[in-house]
Amino acid sequence: MADPDPADSSRVWTVLVARRLLPAGLERLAGQCEIREGGLEATADELLELAPGVDAIVADPTVAVTDALLEAAGHTLRVVANFAVGYDNVDLEACRRRGVTVTNTPDVLTNATAELALALSLAAARHMSEAEADLRGGRWRGFDPGAYLGAELSGATFGIVGMGRIGRRYAELVAGLAGEIIYTSRTRKAATERELGARQVPLEELLDGADVVSLHLPATADTIGLVGAQELFAMKATAVLVNTSRGPLVDSTALAGALREGEIGAAGLDVYEHEPDVPTALLEAPHCVLLPHIGSATTRSRDGMARLVADNVLAVLRGAEPPNRVA
Ligand code: 8YV
Repeated sequence: MADPDPADSSRVWTVLVARRLLPAGLERLAGQCEIREGGLEATADELLELAPGVDAIVADPTVAVTDALLEAAGHTLRVVANFAVGYDNVDLEACRRRGVTVTNTPDVLTNATAELALALSLAAARHMSEAEADLRGGRWRGFDPGAYLGAELSGATFGIVGMGRIGRRYAELVAGLAGEIIYTSRTRKAATERELGARQVPLEELLDGADVVSLHLPATADTIGLVGAQELFAMKATAVLVNTSRGPLVDSTALAGALREGEIGAAGLDVYEHEPDVPTALLEAPHCVLLPHIGSATTRSRDGMARLVADNVLAVLRGAEPPNRVA
């Protein structure tokens, strides 16, 4: 039997939602797609069983889109739409080899993620997790002039590692606090320099001079392990490290050690090397604010991401160029 015509608008496509797609996305697919949903607990083996014959896969950073999954889907598969701006979970080469389009969800989560990076910067600098844990645990004995002394960020030098969309938005948000904004980037950002007075510097200079170091890079072969023992040692003893990008950029054992030894002042983390595992050393480290990967977790952002996922899926299945192609 001949393959169905992809441009046939009366066709109902089959979409494997590996975990969960919010109603804002499902509504757009309704009537045109039949959904097979893995659910939040879906294992890799269960996804292999659900994959045969699907036209699209909706994944997210917790779903490894491997060559085996693409193979299980078979020749009907046209698009992998990732519910995230990052796509380090997707084997891009395998998708390219098989002619499968890959898309992501940029822009709609820029504000949410940059705002969370700002919140983590302030929360870590002011030791908010410890202070709140003491209060909730009944250990607060009243005002103490010497307790919970943190760092003020007014006048601080903000070091932004990666000046993409989220890094730029974070720069805008901290501009009212910053004494100076320094950044690293593969390319010079003339507009950001002009508008925010930011200055591009080598990573060594940023680590040496920043009071806050905030990471805004994807996880790639070049960035994994970017911040290890040596980099932490190079930072100021009062510096705050913020990571809302991807866990593998930071060596968590080295970070926990640096916090314990007072080599840096504080850390605010939203992402971890092997989510949802959070290393015990980090849980026990001082001055460390830990969040469960909620960078894009606002209703506006997540609904926007869900709609983009649906738009990308439908565009590819209709034979059009998707709004957010990454491969
Ligand atoms: C996602 C993210 O919300 O977009 C990304 O790359 O890390 C987050 O915004 C999260 O990964 C769940 O999909």
